[in-house]
Amino acid sequence: MAREFSTVGVVGLGTMGAGIVEVFARNGIDVVAVEISVPALERGRATLKGSTDRAVAKGKLAEADRDALHERVHFEVGLDALHSVDLVIEAVPEHLDLKQRIFAELDRVCRPETILATNTSSLSVTEISVATSRPNQVIGIHFFNPAPVMKLVEVVRTVVTAPEVVADVEALCARLGKVDVTINDRAGFIANALLFGYLNHAVGMFESHYATREDIDAAMKLGCGLPMGPLALMDLIGLDTAYEILDTMYRRGGRDRRHAPVPLLKQMVTAGLLGRKSGRGFYTYERPGSPVVVPDEATPLATEVAAGDGARAITKVGVVGSGTMATGIIEVFAKAGYEVVSVTRGMEKSATVCEAVKTSLNKGVVRGKLAEADRDAALGRISWSATLDHLADVDLVVEAVVEELSVKKALFASLDEICKPGVVLATTTSSLPVIDVAMATQRPADVVGLHFFNPAPVMPLVEVVRTIRTSPEATATARAVCAALGKTGVVCGDRSGFIVNALLFPYLNDAVKMLEASYSTADDIDHAMKLGCGYPMGPFELLDVVGLDVSLAIQRELYLELREPGFAPAPLLEHLVTAGYLGRKTRRGFRDHSHR
Ligand SMILES: NC(=O)c1ccc[n+]([C@@H]2O[C@H](COP(=O)([O-])OP(=O)(O)OC[C@H]3O[C@@H](n4cnc5c(N)ncnc54)[C@H](O)[C@@H]3O)[C@@H](O)[C@H]2O)c1
Repeated sequence: MAREFSTVGVVGLGTMGAGIVEVFARNGIDVVAVEISVPALERGRATLKGSTDRAVAKGKLAEADRDALHERVHFEVGLDALHSVDLVIEAVPEHLDLKQRIFAELDRVCRPETILATNTSSLSVTEISVATSRPNQVIGIHFFNPAPVMKLVEVVRTVVTAPEVVADVEALCARLGKVDVTINDRAGFIANALLFGYLNHAVGMFESHYATREDIDAAMKLGCGLPMGPLALMDLIGLDTAYEILDTMYRRGGRDRRHAPVPLLKQMVTAGLLGRKSGRGFYTYERPGSPVVVPDEATPLATEVAAGDGARAITKVGVVGSGTMATGIIEVFAKAGYEVVSVTRGMEKSATVCEAVKTSLNKGVVRGKLAEADRDAALGRISWSATLDHLADVDLVVEAVVEELSVKKALFASLDEICKPGVVLATTTSSLPVIDVAMATQRPADVVGLHFFNPAPVMPLVEVVRTIRTSPEATATARAVCAALGKTGVVCGDRSGFIVNALLFPYLNDAVKMLEASYSTADDIDHAMKLGCGYPMGPFELLDVVGLDVSLAIQRELYLELREPGFAPAPLLEHLVTAGYLGRKTRRGFRDHSHR
């Protein structure tokens, strides 16, 4: 029989504690909510009230249930109030000495059978447990932010945690409507170990002016379907907490440089820019604790975005290539009202591409998303050619030929001879340096990267890559074109992986390394990222979709260009590729897809 928890204590009512109180009280459990001072207690009370009021306003909680929820919570200053609770969850700041002091005190105050849990994200539960005389009753219960929303709980057992304590806590998680994964005590557990390298990398991109905060966040939301971008997430987590987590992970997790907090983080914490909780972090919020972002001096002006700052007028567009990307890009431009010249290496190829564009447009008609007249008009705007000479009077060329530098360079040299002055020349390369392609022409200032995502007609993101030679006008033109296509163009520097792949693939590679180290299973890791961080797919699901060979190639490029030891491809990934297990396309990757 699982232990009955009728009253629990929560210590620390900050970002996490207040949410954890809500989770218990919502599920009919009495809570003693403890803070260090009266003002801190009042802040915690206000957070709980704000959150439950929002739930009522959204129709997710009845008023009577909210009132009953509040009646179950008793607010107190000081740990002595916890003398008769069945379980305590500690959620004070991420400092080992503070947590150890609190656990020693809890050990003194609480009944001998009370379970003591920490919500730590990165500290050693084992080290916290030995501050008590009952390490076998100490466990990690790691909730995710915001606790009332995120379904996952990581249950962390140490080598001495009693099995019945683990079982009791697992049963409690089920009662709270949460999904738990039970794991051993390792820095960052599953989700944070995979998340924080990515977050820190994104902060580094921002710090080095590689891209703006808006563009970094939009790239990950629109390119990967994440619920929020990395910098907005840092603000939600709290920059002080994030700093401590990174610092601990760096020291406990093998001194991986990717976890060494980016210097900007420390500066922001020192300056009191802690994120949402202080009203300002990477973004500025309406007031401390508010989720509403307000414009500040770094917010791009709407007029600037619309005017496109020196953007050139584009009416006619050339698309070179006959593969999946070229086909999708032709469709996107034609649908948006541009005149399109498609150039392939022969009229037979042109016919195939033409058929593919027709088929795709027809699907839109069948699904009721495109009027027949609009389909016909779009097709009427495309002319088909097998010679580059037909690009003499276009305003923009988008190159989407095979991913080989020599081929692209030769093509750009020809475009340089054929195209009129002032044309913007764009490459869709996903892995080659745009500057190499640009220098094959006499007009590198007019060359940009336009990295579309597959399938181009569906994906809302385009990365606009500017090299050190690209002119502001060419960048502005590319961005304005993206907007006219109904897509979000994010501007970034010319580095391997641009924004999305550089942030995504190391995370996927880390997940493979975690599996390889037998820390957890593919299922639990996928669960953790979906239910703890709101990702649309877990890393192994995504790797099987993208293709293990493609993922390995991208990861190798990143490793070769950035020489970051932590980016070295996981040996398991290499072995699976060698074995021909490439993912869904070969019916086997991390999972067996032969029966699906
Ligand atoms: N922020 C997140 O996204 C997140 C997610 C999961 C886990 N965590 C972990 O949860 C814990 C709390 O993090 P947070 O982000 O909520 O921090 P926070 O700074 O928002 O809140 C900490 C709270 O603890 C209170 N406090 C400090 N000393 C205390 C004491 N002696 N007694 C009682 N209360 C005390 C503070 O007044 C503050 O309200 C950390 O271990 C963190 O790693 C954080």
